[in-house]
Amino acid sequence: MGDRGIIDTMRLEKYIATSGIASRRAVKKRIRAGLVTVNGEPIFVPGHPIDVETDTVVFEGQPVEPLTEHLYLMLNKPPGYLTTRRDERGRPTVMHLVADLPNSIYPVGRLDLETEGLLIFTNDGDFAYRLLHPSHEIEKTYLAWVKGIPNETAVERLRQGVTIPSGKTAPAKVKRLKTSRDEASTQFEVVIHEGKKRQVRLMFKGVGHPVIRLKRTRLGNLGLGNLPQGQYRFLTASEVTALMAL
Ligand code: URA
Repeated sequence: MGDRGIIDTMRLEKYIATSGIASRRAVKKRIRAGLVTVNGEPIFVPGHPIDVETDTVVFEGQPVEPLTEHLYLMLNKPPGYLTTRRDERGRPTVMHLVADLPNSIYPVGRLDLETEGLLIFTNDGDFAYRLLHPSHEIEKTYLAWVKGIPNETAVERLRQGVTIPSGKTAPAKVKRLKTSRDEASTQFEVVIHEGKKRQVRLMFKGVGHPVIRLKRTRLGNLGLGNLPQGQYRFLTASEVTALMAL
């Protein structure tokens, strides 16, 4: 196991069996019969360690597809980074913050350029699909700092739904947290389960209080915690399972 909890070596028969070609027992027989090569050399003993990143394994003349390991991580996105895999204009993207990881990973969903906070990455297409599919209605929690002091009527409108260019927003949970000492801004916690473009910003703009700063703190049960800005961490197996079960 590597230090990130990622498998980097594996027994030869397991490596082949995991790729789905044949059962582990059948594979062992073929190994003993000299029908399996590793980097061009026949290997006669099961248990031979395979480096899943670099070794080339051929089973009865058929190359074995390398095992694709699934990665799941969260990033605390700083403002000023685009949520895209690449930008033709060379601007900073969230990929720059995970550049030491395999480039098979991609962000799940998106945060606006200036939005901060919890962004998930994976290379597991099923996982990404489940997380993004509207039928799963995953709750997304944001901290929003907005201009001025919205009155209760404005807050109630946010809760009921506001008409923005892409339609009326579904009811949201909106909690007033605090107003700055100079009364220039007020902080709210907002929970939505839709993903309309710039939704939280447009909701507050719609009630006359533009967002000054926006941070996503939670997706379903998964919280950003105290992960420093610009840093990532791998999700635990139980965090992945919990998100998959939503
Ligand atoms: N709502 C927004 O306005 N921006 C985001 O990035 C996410 C939700």
